[in-house]
Amino acid sequence: MPTNTATGTPADLRQDPLTIAVLGPGGVGGLLAALLSRAGHRVLCLAGDDTARTLREGGIRVRSAQFGEFTATVDAAPELPEASGPAEAVDAVLVTVKHTNLDAALERLPAKSLGDDALVVPFLNGVEHPAALRARYGADRVAPAVIRVESTRTAPGVIEHASPFVEIDLAGDPVPRERLDALAAAFTAAGPATRVLPDEAAALWAKMSFLAPFALLTTLYGLPLGEVRTRHRDELTALVEETAAVSLACGGPADPAQALARYDTFPPAMRSSMQRDAEAGRPLELDAIGGALLRAAERHGVEVPVAARVVRELAARGR
Ligand SMILES: NC(=O)c1ccc[n+]([C@@H]2O[C@H](COP(=O)([O-])OP(=O)(O)OC[C@H]3O[C@@H](n4cnc5c(N)ncnc54)[C@H](OP(=O)(O)O)[C@@H]3O)[C@@H](O)[C@H]2O)c1
Repeated sequence: MPTNTATGTPADLRQDPLTIAVLGPGGVGGLLAALLSRAGHRVLCLAGDDTARTLREGGIRVRSAQFGEFTATVDAAPELPEASGPAEAVDAVLVTVKHTNLDAALERLPAKSLGDDALVVPFLNGVEHPAALRARYGADRVAPAVIRVESTRTAPGVIEHASPFVEIDLAGDPVPRERLDALAAAFTAAGPATRVLPDEAAALWAKMSFLAPFALLTTLYGLPLGEVRTRHRDELTALVEETAAVSLACGGPADPAQALARYDTFPPAMRSSMQRDAEAGRPLELDAIGGALLRAAERHGVEVPVAARVVRELAARGR
């Protein structure tokens, strides 16, 4: 297979280049920006002045268990500029900030700068952000994605991709299917295996059902998954069952036995990103995960006493 020496990407996987903006080039966004750039797409990272300068001057350095070590050139700016013609218009904006920074970060993405065809593709964990983005940018351009990866921004423009995989599920009920397919093909050709799923609620709640019990209990007890699933098995089981009931009420999957069995397959040392944020003294995505779970439960009249207590205890810690 011939290889493009400038990018390291197999030539027959390359497609027409897209223009992709990445709002928040951290663990997730930095990895995707670097992979898309390496595959030949035009990438513009939207970030604060210092980070933008670092990225323009040094690119994004990736050390990856799956893709090896490489440096990708990207453009960077503090705000998405208004396109002066179709050639400059972005095809998609990947929103890859944490929930705690979402409102501030969206100031860098004025609605008037998005061309008629630009998709807005959030990668945040949680289930409530698509509605907020649709209210701001329009219903038929928001295509939420779920990503399975472990990737960390160790310094501006420096990404450690620890998981030997990166997988994306792309959804967006009101978005034309061919637009999702085109973006999924670009991701897949760049590295992350990407599926288009027909049901957005199912996609978001499938991730939430796995993430919420794991994130909440590992953070509450400051223990890795292996100890949570043995020392706090009853609580984990109750939380998985409550989350499954809420997921079902919201149109998502509900298979608590399978969820528990899945936790048992993961390495015992596994920690959640909420737990890592807590240990580092960073703000937690507690409202986007635990808060959203409780709000959905209340909307649908589902009893979630264990989730309510755990979220209350974590919130009382004040972050
Ligand atoms: N990391 C993972 O492995 C992973 C896996 C699955 C899902 N997720 C989800 O993906 C989302 C992103 O997580 P992450 O781990 O990638 O976060 P992260 O590493 O903290 O990256 C977020 C980026 O957003 C930037 N940012 C913060 N405020 C900003 C603002 N006002 N304007 C522009 N940029 C701003 C930060 O900039 P600076 O670099 O300048 O600080 C940082 O680069 C979260 O919802 C998380 O739960 C993450």
